[in-house]
Formats: sequence, structure tokens, C-alpha cells
Amino acid sequence: MATLDWTPELALGDARIDETHREFVDMLNVVGDATDDTMLAAIDALIAHTEEHFGQEQRWMAATDFPPTHCHLDEHDGVLNAIHETRGYVVEGKFKVGKVLAQELGNWFCSHAATMDTMLAQWLKAQNFDTSREGEAVTS
Ligand SMILES: [Fe+2]
Ligand SMILES: [Fe+2]
Repeated sequence: MATLDWTPELALGDARIDETHREFVDMLNVVGDATDDTMLAAIDALIAHTEEHFGQEQRWMAATDFPPTHCHLDEHDGVLNAIHETRGYVVEGKFKVGKVLAQELGNWFCSHAATMDTMLAQWLKAQNFDTSREGEAVTS
């Protein structure tokens, strides 16, 4: 059973954000379905993708002076720390912690996407910031 199913409510209307978020959900499900043998690789893949995902949002926030940047980045940092901490447990053979992480991150992601990432997507749109072109202003 999937840890988290992608639903239309998770789409924020920005193609690049949504593509990254879909990949995040896929990788979360790989962690949720992992066996003891595949858990570490699944967590490592999730870490690499999440660093990329959060780095992307951080660049866009910086480029547009997004007002609640600090708050948003704090939340990202907390999540990355939790994934790294889980990795430590998995390395010690506590594979079940990876499953708990997948479940918790699924819950976290739904509320994060509905609040902070929604605000960011709306802000970027209002600033005419084109995420597909990494910020080249759209001039009409
Ligand atoms: Fe995001
Ligand atoms: Fe975010």
C-alpha cells in the first residue's frame, strides 16, 4: 500500500513545483515500501532529492524576497534533519524507523504543500517569476 497517493489537491498549479512534489511523493513511497535490504538506498535517494527540492525553493525565495522565507526554511531544515537522523538508525539496523519516517513525512508534506508551498507558488506567480526558466522575469 502506498504511503501517500498523489491527489489533485496536492497540485499547486506550477508545473515545476508539481513535478518535484510528485517525485517527492514517489520517493516517499519507495521508502515506505522498502525492505531491510533496500531501505538505506531508498533513504539516500530521498535525501538527495529533498536537498534538491528544498534548494530549488530556497533559490526562488531568495530571488524574489519571499517575506516568510525564514519560517519556510526552518521547516525544511527540520525535515532534512529528521531524514538524516533516520538514516543513522537505519545504518544501525533499525529499519522500521524508515517506515515511520515515510508515514510522518507523508503527513508533513500534505500540510506543508497546502500552506507554505501554496503561499510560495502564489507569491512566485504574483511576482511573474517563471520557475521553468529559473526566474527570468516574464515580460508581457
Ligand atoms: Fe516543496
Ligand atoms: Fe517547501
